[in-house]
Amino acid sequence: MATHDPVSHDDVRTSETRPADGRPVAKPANPRFSSGPCAKPPTFDLAALADAPLGRSHRAAEGKAKLLAAIERTREILGVPAEYRIGIVPASDTGAFEMAMWSMLGARPAEMVAWESFGAGWVTDVAKQLKIEHRVHTADYGEIVDMAALNYDNDVCFTWNGTTSGVRVPSGDVIPADRAGLTLCDATSAAFAVDLPWDKLDVTTYSWQKVLGGEAAHGMLILSPRAVERLESYTPPWPLPKIFRLNKGGKLIEGIFTGATINTPSMLCVEDYLLALDWAESVGGLKGLIARADANTTAVSAFVEAHDWIDFLARDPATRSNTSVCLKFTDARITDGAAFAKAIAKRLADEGVALDIGAYRDAPPGLRIWCGATVETADIEAMLPWLAWAFDTEIST
Ligand SMILES: Cc1ncc(COP(=O)(O)O)c(C=O)c1O
Repeated sequence: MATHDPVSHDDVRTSETRPADGRPVAKPANPRFSSGPCAKPPTFDLAALADAPLGRSHRAAEGKAKLLAAIERTREILGVPAEYRIGIVPASDTGAFEMAMWSMLGARPAEMVAWESFGAGWVTDVAKQLKIEHRVHTADYGEIVDMAALNYDNDVCFTWNGTTSGVRVPSGDVIPADRAGLTLCDATSAAFAVDLPWDKLDVTTYSWQKVLGGEAAHGMLILSPRAVERLESYTPPWPLPKIFRLNKGGKLIEGIFTGATINTPSMLCVEDYLLALDWAESVGGLKGLIARADANTTAVSAFVEAHDWIDFLARDPATRSNTSVCLKFTDARITDGAAFAKAIAKRLADEGVALDIGAYRDAPPGLRIWCGATVETADIEAMLPWLAWAFDTEIST
């Protein structure tokens, strides 16, 4: 079967009964399991972007309407309360999160929380760049920080889903609703895969290229009324570049939250995001997206349970991500874990059955299989027998 042919469930079952050389029969219709940019929605077609107002000003009525639609449809699907602001900002999730840190931190001490690479990056920002009073809470890859042990009178910066370890916050219940500090949440790999508790989040950021399979470059910044209050009552002691400025004359620039972006966005990316939102709606909105990610993760879990040479990096099942699923090899015969994992990822890529599934460069050796909503469960199911084949082949060479 050709790499991009659709795979039926019957094909998948056939692939479990391997031919003589051990190779599965079926291949995933789409071998893209990268953790970002992630697979486009299954119905994606470049021709569907033809309505993008290319070559037009983003400040013309048509462009502004598209940007406002992107904001309002995001609100609808994610269930963001009406009193929260949603803005499209430059430089993807990094831009959105750093803009929030640079604009709001320093009014109180910060609690910096990290259990993998991206959270660690935000710790570095605070410790080495902003140099404000802070406490650092870290856990090793595979573990999570006790979110109940933080001081929520301080500002708390954390990542909901650590993309490089596959560990996510199990629930926001421990965050007090009556906290004095702000919570700043990097939700890049969680938005559209988790029902985020908006009353517990003051600043939430994500990028388009993750769970919805959009294009990179634009960040989403979601602000609670308390975050806006901070912006309007506090001026940080450091200079802010124009690209980070959310205030003018001590007032929030409201236009940013109705589609008047700080600088020029790509209207092609906006059109692509609108298309992804259409698709999200067509699969049942947030509930449907979560169900798709959960089904993908369940398929991987069943595989892990059935094979004693592989395990989740996330130790506690309650903290296992349903998007960035990180796995480690546990077979005692493996002497060089990094080389082994790399060789498996290469075999799978060479066969055209799984692209870009090597662990993140800073993470422990292993595999990272994106299970977000744009990935079809049939593709995960078709890919996993190939993982077993690659393991068997590699371990015996
Ligand atoms: C949790 C997390 N935070 C931040 C980023 C950086 O996102 P971007 O490249 O969109 O700025 C990523 C990217 O993978 C991520 O997974």
